[in-house]
Amino acid sequence: MNISLVAARSENGVIGNGDQIPWKADGEQRLFKEITMGGVLVMGRKTYDSIGRPLPGRETIVISRSAKDLPEPIKLCGSLSIALQSAALMKKPIFVVGGGQVYSQAISIADSLHLTQIHCHADGDIFFPEIPNHLKLNKQRYYESNINYTYEYYERAQKNKN
Ligand SMILES: NC(=O)c1ccc[n+]([C@@H]2O[C@H](COP(=O)([O-])OP(=O)(O)OC[C@H]3O[C@@H](n4cnc5c(N)ncnc54)[C@H](OP(=O)(O)O)[C@@H]3O)[C@@H](O)[C@H]2O)c1
Repeated sequence: MNISLVAARSENGVIGNGDQIPWKADGEQRLFKEITMGGVLVMGRKTYDSIGRPLPGRETIVISRSAKDLPEPIKLCGSLSIALQSAALMKKPIFVVGGGQVYSQAISIADSLHLTQIHCHADGDIFFPEIPNHLKLNKQRYYESNINYTYEYYERAQKNKN
């Protein structure tokens, strides 16, 4: 199973404020769409509530301990590991797309990370976890927009074969 995280964070590490993302950087959502199209999105219940609908062209799996049911075709799972097992059965790329609680649980097992660094200081109360040492920056690209941002791609470091 290959697991990618996809996130955007401000320079002070914020990813959310309450149930909202506290910036609007033109083009960033298009980037999210390009990265995730055709895949399976695994997300926490609060992130699903803030999006409010399944995103077209992608499967949606929502993790919740309390939700009883969600509209078709969304799949509801009671834990991250069950969600990832269900995602693997779909034979499509797996993207863990937040929010803070779910990133914190998934980052230690991530094989790659698509991280958009938004060049602003944002007020918020939900933060991205520290990037672990096993994920190494592989490429980056700077975008000019109403708020500038840099897309960064991290991959699991190859094991030393010696
Ligand atoms: N900037 C970004 O890239 C980005 C991306 C996504 C989201 N966000 C933002 O992040 C914020 C939401 O993040 P959050 O940390 O508050 O919530 P979240 O991670 O989206 O969802 C938390 C909920 O997921 C469920 N959950 C979490 N871990 C679970 C587990 N191990 N087993 C079963 N269920 C589990 C629980 O649902 P129940 O309470 O139903 O049991 C929990 O309340 C929002 O502001 C959103 O806009 C930002």
